[in-house]
Amino acid sequence: MNKRLTVAVTGASGALYAVRLLRYLMMNTFEVDFIVSDAGKITFKVEMDANLEKEDISEFLKKRFGAAVMKGRIKTYSNDSISAPMASGSGRRLGMVIVPCSMKTMSAVAHGAAANLIERSADVALKERFPLIVVPRETPMNSIQIENMLKLSQAGAMIVPAMPAFYQKPQSLDDLADFITGRVLNLLGIEDHGLFNDWGN
Ligand SMILES: Cc1cc2nc3c(=O)[nH]c(=O)nc-3n(C[C@H](O)[C@H](O)[C@H](O)COP(=O)(O)O)c2cc1C
Repeated sequence: MNKRLTVAVTGASGALYAVRLLRYLMMNTFEVDFIVSDAGKITFKVEMDANLEKEDISEFLKKRFGAAVMKGRIKTYSNDSISAPMASGSGRRLGMVIVPCSMKTMSAVAHGAAANLIERSADVALKERFPLIVVPRETPMNSIQIENMLKLSQAGAMIVPAMPAFYQKPQSLDDLADFITGRVLNLLGIEDHGLFNDWGN
């Protein structure tokens, strides 16, 4: 399995979803290329009390989860860095996940804007036909936002709304976020993650 993938964080609420996904990937020897938008840094600060302007995501993960998360590799790219490897279709990847995905970034990707590295990388994923998984978060949604989700889905993206389920009887916020993480991993073809039990098992 190609263990290299892109994870992008944008300025929607739900930084914890990204943190739980990164925890899993880093504990399981994946190679992550990481991008965070400027607004993503703000929501990350509000929700995770971490300043990604000053602290690299790898330091944050290590502080939070210990050395176990250092089995993988994570490299941060600036969202302005339009010449980064993910901006080109030549390097194959397991996929790209935008988690959480703001309505703004969803609109940009749905319309092929490709104006920053997150948008361009998503554009590349769609044109190269490798999995693009988008975790939008907004409520309520207007019809422009709903149409953008439909457009993205029709272009081949997989939409995993940040809508955790409760039938798993979550005991913590981490359990709730891990439900979404597990759904994202399933779509990447990683099914033995053990983050939740399949219904009925
Ligand atoms: C605390 C906070 C929470 C936000 N939550 C959301 C949200 O859940 N969904 C959303 O689409 N935008 C949300 N926004 C607005 C986005 O951050 C804003 O539209 C921004 O321009 C998105 O830029 P980006 O897509 O480049 O990250 C939030 C902003 C802040 C400051």
